[in-house]
Amino acid sequence: MLDNAIKHTPVGGTVTICGRNNNSETVEISVRDTGSGIPEDMRKRIFERFSHKEEPGGRPGTGLGLAISRRIVISHGGDIKVSSQPGKGAELTVRLPAIYDINGKTELVKAGPSS
Ligand SMILES: Nc1ncnc2c1ncn2[C@@H]1O[C@H](COP(=O)(O)OP(=O)(O)O)[C@@H](O)[C@H]1O
Ligand SMILES: [Mg+2]
Repeated sequence: MLDNAIKHTPVGGTVTICGRNNNSETVEISVRDTGSGIPEDMRKRIFERFSHKEEPGGRPGTGLGLAISRRIVISHGGDIKVSSQPGKGAELTVRLPAIYDINGKTELVKAGPSS
């Protein structure tokens, strides 16, 4: 997410990383940028393998990063979302169930896909 944000944000733009604890049930990490943004048709496919477009002159990518990220996040009971205003930037958010320790016993709070 960070690599993508930096790659798609021109010099002088901003990349913001934000962490959130949602009532200790889930934690979220988001990466927001002020770069090119992601058109709607691309947003629909962004978590599929090889969804990327070849960018002339751009740093080449494999088109696997977000597909692998999504599989990892889902396998940990979380989810990953994208939002974007093309031309203004993009925000990718990973949400994971919180793990906490009660009397030395580790508890996993279940998180399902958000509505
Ligand atoms: N922050 C972003 N801003 C603009 N486009 C993005 C951003 N993140 C992802 N994308 C788009 O999603 C595609 C897929 O990303 P990814 O799976 O990481 O593959 P890769 O970075 O190898 O191309 C990218 O090629 C790009 O088109
Ligand atoms: Mg990438």
